[in-house]
Amino acid sequence: MARKSVAQVQRESETSELKRTLGAWNLMLLGIGCIIGAGIFVRTGNAAALHAGPAVLISFVIAGAVCALAGLCYAELSSSLPVSGSAYTYSYTTLGEFAAWIMGSLLLLEYGLAASVVAVGWSGYVVSLLGDFGLVIPETLTGPFGHVDPKTGVTTLFNLPAFAVCTLLGLLLVVGVSESAKVNNIIVAIKVSVIIAFIAIGGYMVLSNLGELTAKNWTPFIPEPTGDKGEFGWGGILRAASIVFFAYIGFEAVSTAGQEAKNPKRDMPIGIIGSLVVCTVLYMLVAAVLTLIVNYKGLNVPDPVAVAVDSFGPQWAWFAKLIKVGAIIGLTSVVLVLMYGQTRIFYTMARDGLLPRIFATVHPRFKTPWINTILVALMTAFAAGFFDINTLGDMTSVGTLAAFGIVCLTVIWLRTTHPNLPRGFKVPLYPVLPALGIVSCFALIFTVEARVLVFFGWFMLGAIILYFLYGMSHSRLAHGQDQVDAPEMGEFPAPVHEEGR
Ligand code: ALA
Repeated sequence: MARKSVAQVQRESETSELKRTLGAWNLMLLGIGCIIGAGIFVRTGNAAALHAGPAVLISFVIAGAVCALAGLCYAELSSSLPVSGSAYTYSYTTLGEFAAWIMGSLLLLEYGLAASVVAVGWSGYVVSLLGDFGLVIPETLTGPFGHVDPKTGVTTLFNLPAFAVCTLLGLLLVVGVSESAKVNNIIVAIKVSVIIAFIAIGGYMVLSNLGELTAKNWTPFIPEPTGDKGEFGWGGILRAASIVFFAYIGFEAVSTAGQEAKNPKRDMPIGIIGSLVVCTVLYMLVAAVLTLIVNYKGLNVPDPVAVAVDSFGPQWAWFAKLIKVGAIIGLTSVVLVLMYGQTRIFYTMARDGLLPRIFATVHPRFKTPWINTILVALMTAFAAGFFDINTLGDMTSVGTLAAFGIVCLTVIWLRTTHPNLPRGFKVPLYPVLPALGIVSCFALIFTVEARVLVFFGWFMLGAIILYFLYGMSHSRLAHGQDQVDAPEMGEFPAPVHEEGR
């Protein structure tokens, strides 16, 4: 139950006094940059094909609403606790060390494992693009271990491109590449342009043939349930909501910039809710075009957006390639940001003594936490190389939903124990909205497959045992010490929007 005091956290963050330069627009761009990735480019197809059909549009609204509740809670915490940290630090300051450890474990799913999911999505688009140019990677090296392709009958062994992208980006992070604001803005522009072009051209195709396409692909809009849990009907819509929830992960990056917002009271909620609204609208439009153009049954593919463009006709082949290139660039940046976030969380935990000191060791020349980064890269690479995207994605959703639930709980805890703490932003309709956040996050968790829940249960049990075996006895707080001094670092750990200052 040991807690860091607000004064202690302030002392620890003194070394990184940040300037307040970010307005609502920058915050929204920061959010959108982290949000758009494999969720929309890959997982939407799976959610529609196997669980919700065209009603995946409703799933997007449900998942977006759950994220908005958690987002408001993130905004309040970031405006009341003077830390430029993640949910891990919020927990350490409020609920205590054990909760912080649990949060650290959940963030490993939200960042580390999510990087693997996006890497597998990246691989799908790369294999497809290379195929367009006649370059074929043997199929056995393009999928998870032991997966049988229903079309070709080939059993895949290992996802080589996904493994490769994680290791290469890990190397980039070791030598100290951090995304600057300019690069981030360019990548956001590419991702959003590709998506808007798809909506515009696809929307034109759809509108010129609306009656026929609606009758063929949108009737019924909510397919009849098959009787199996989570397959179509309302059960399927909820199941799909937990899948497409992945597409929204990343918006909380906005809250980590709380100390850099010009006017946090006004701009933080605009940044968080604004990026969620923009993405929800884009996602619903993409899903509508996808499911109108291609029957939902044909969308369980690694590159659903490109498959939809292929069906526009051969004269659009160039556009399909453009979509793939845009998706690959966008997905690369998401893997990089997620891996970067994971190394930063491990680094902070190591400075607190909860993880071995080696996770905070900084390379003398590159000034990056290189051993930590290599371990993160290997972990994400192995997960991406051997596991299938659906299992990885569901684990990420479950871990993140649990983390968001705890964040909502933290808001209630802090209001009760520290009612007079100055708060730049307050969640409206307190305590209804945070309570609704907790309930909805935990409700969505229970829509995923039973085997994922069992896997999650084992993961958490392992994490708890590790805390009692290692974390509790090595914690610096338990020994009355502050964090280990930050080793001198180069760009690390710099916020992704550093150049914007
Ligand atoms: N929301 C991010 C994505 O969809 C993690 O890739």
